[in-house]
Amino acid sequence: MSETNPITEEAVEAAAEEALASLATATNLAEFKALRAAHTGEGSALSRLNAQLRNVPSDQKAASGKLVGQARGRVNQAFAAREESLRVEEEVRKLAAESVDVTAAPAHWRAGARHPLSTMQDAISDIFVGMGWEVADGPELENEWFNFDALNFAPDHPARAMQDTFFVEPVESHLLLRTHTSPVQLRALLARELPVYVVAPGRVFRTDELDATHTPVFSQVEGIAIDRGLTMAHLRGTLEHLARQLFGDEAKIRLRPNFFPFTEPSAEMDVWQPGAKGGARWVEWGGCGMVNPNVLRAAGIDPEEYQGFAFGMGIERTLQFRNALNDMRDMVEGDIRFNTQFGTVV
Ligand code: FA5
Ligand code: MG
Repeated sequence: MSETNPITEEAVEAAAEEALASLATATNLAEFKALRAAHTGEGSALSRLNAQLRNVPSDQKAASGKLVGQARGRVNQAFAAREESLRVEEEVRKLAAESVDVTAAPAHWRAGARHPLSTMQDAISDIFVGMGWEVADGPELENEWFNFDALNFAPDHPARAMQDTFFVEPVESHLLLRTHTSPVQLRALLARELPVYVVAPGRVFRTDELDATHTPVFSQVEGIAIDRGLTMAHLRGTLEHLARQLFGDEAKIRLRPNFFPFTEPSAEMDVWQPGAKGGARWVEWGGCGMVNPNVLRAAGIDPEEYQGFAFGMGIERTLQFRNALNDMRDMVEGDIRFNTQFGTVV
């Protein structure tokens, strides 16, 4: 009597072929691992056949065992080989993806740069630091007292009027957007021991219309020197030095009598522009004078003992004269083509 053998050569061959054929569909290690589980793991056709060995009649056990064992060996070997080649492929892909082409053109990084007005402001401060002066600053939102009263402006002085000054509501707060950097004069005197040599660059505000030489938001640099025995000659020498540093050795300045409530005598300071469009000319650069004794008194200083000078000029005008720029509007409108002329990289 012959018992039936559940393991046929065809069944073993079919299971092995199916497992081997599946290998071709694995394109990466993750897919491969899923296929290996399905075709060689528990529940796969081959392992089911292997489990059937216990039902094989004893006289055929050896032959069937060999049949299944060889098929599984072949499949396992093929899977191991495929795993190794997929591992190598993946490694190569990863290296290629991470490789750096040292000959490639660099990515263009937009570095940006400081605005030419800021650079100008720093250049002016540096010139004074070079003479031993200090750099100070003050608030843009200023108390009316510092901006006007302490600077000896009469209560009905026209500069206080609404058409020049941006007052801040509520009016009783007596706050305004400072109309000049001169309030820093008082702040510097109150905060420091004498003698005082201070420059204070910063932004100021006036209800001026935007035109070729005016903007409602502009910057000034204030200077104040209080010491024993300072005269108008020291003021003139300081301003001439500044002008030569900024505009070259040929630079000339001119003082014209003028009036400021906080200086006496006062002058308007012009600078000579030899290369101006339409011919050489004098142009107004700032105001200056000997500090009014009333200002010194407001800071608690005895004007009999200490005297000094002050000045304040426009930084936009300085840049305009130095770089022969016709129109101040170009500086404030934020068109990047203007800045690139000053070396800003975009
Ligand atoms: C003053 O502001 C005085 N505080 C200067 C001063 C300081 C006098 C210390 C005495 C002692 P003035 O209003 O003239 O002065 O302005 C000074 C400079 O600021 C002008 O010469 C000009 O260069 C600049 N400036 C004035 N208004 C504008 C504006 N709207 N836009 C650009 N620059 C301006
Ligand atoms: Mg003026």
